[in-house]
Amino acid sequence: MKHKVFVSRIIPDEGLNLVLDACDAEVWQDELPPPREILLEKIRDKVGLLSLLTDKIDAELMDLNPQLRVVANYAVGFDNIDIPAATQRGLPIGNTPGVLTDTTADFAFTMLMSAARRVVEGADYVRAGKWKTWGPKLLTGIDIHGATLGLIGFGRIGQAMAKRASGFDMRVLYYDQYRREDLEKSMGVVYADMDTLLHESDFVSIHTDLNESTRHMFNNDAFAKMKSSAVLINSARGPIIDPAALYDALSSGKIRAAALDVTEPEPIHMDSPLLTLPNCLVVPHIASASIATRGKMAEMAAKNLIAGVNGERLPTPVNPEVYEKGIRK
Ligand code: DGY
Repeated sequence: MKHKVFVSRIIPDEGLNLVLDACDAEVWQDELPPPREILLEKIRDKVGLLSLLTDKIDAELMDLNPQLRVVANYAVGFDNIDIPAATQRGLPIGNTPGVLTDTTADFAFTMLMSAARRVVEGADYVRAGKWKTWGPKLLTGIDIHGATLGLIGFGRIGQAMAKRASGFDMRVLYYDQYRREDLEKSMGVVYADMDTLLHESDFVSIHTDLNESTRHMFNNDAFAKMKSSAVLINSARGPIIDPAALYDALSSGKIRAAALDVTEPEPIHMDSPLLTLPNCLVVPHIASASIATRGKMAEMAAKNLIAGVNGERLPTPVNPEVYEKGIRK
């Protein structure tokens, strides 16, 4: 008999077909996530859950159904899941590391370039019928080549950004809780403490995870330390930036521009003052959204789910320590 699982959204066929073949799957068909009470109801009789970053997976959900053997998150980030609670309950959690690194870095660099060279403002200008002539000062931006890029977080995606920056002859600083002396020479990057990075960078790009030490890391204090010509790029998690402090920094000229793939909250409210600023580019959490990468993420999440329902070790567990403790049966 096939194991019952819940898939909380339609994922690409590369993963969905694997799940449909291996499991007795119920797939949430709506474009919007299942409301909380429906998610809780759906997992009551399931052995596995393939979740999205929009689903909150907490102790309440885990305790509703002791038969739930695995949660496979369709994302590399897992701040939507209470990992200590899962580990304590012997519940393996999977994520999708690696496959989205280059796609996400491509997009973060695209946002950096778009903000520096005012691409979206230029397109809006043309569509609004404002293009009357070539102008010496028309939509002038800042150079990318030769500028200093400060990376907050130097994991896979931060490193992939550094590679892209080297093609633009940028000077690259990084700040991370783990210093990577092994990579500094070969990648041509320099470790800097947070204050130095903020003082010296023309572009600051965020590639760290969201946790209690990074929540609102970009607040009034941080903006006060940045160059007034600096551009901030966030393709990590929205709450790393305090949105009120960002609005103040952008509207008062403390920094030049921001490009956000992620916001607090998500989706951003349509009455957010950030949306009134021409120097704030906001897109809807699409940094990993290439067709190929979303397919690979689906395949990885499906493989985690299927291994988990069969009581096997997940290919990419977030909490491998659960296997030493003993997993839920
Ligand atoms: C992730 O995987 O964590 C991204 O935010 C979505 O791809």
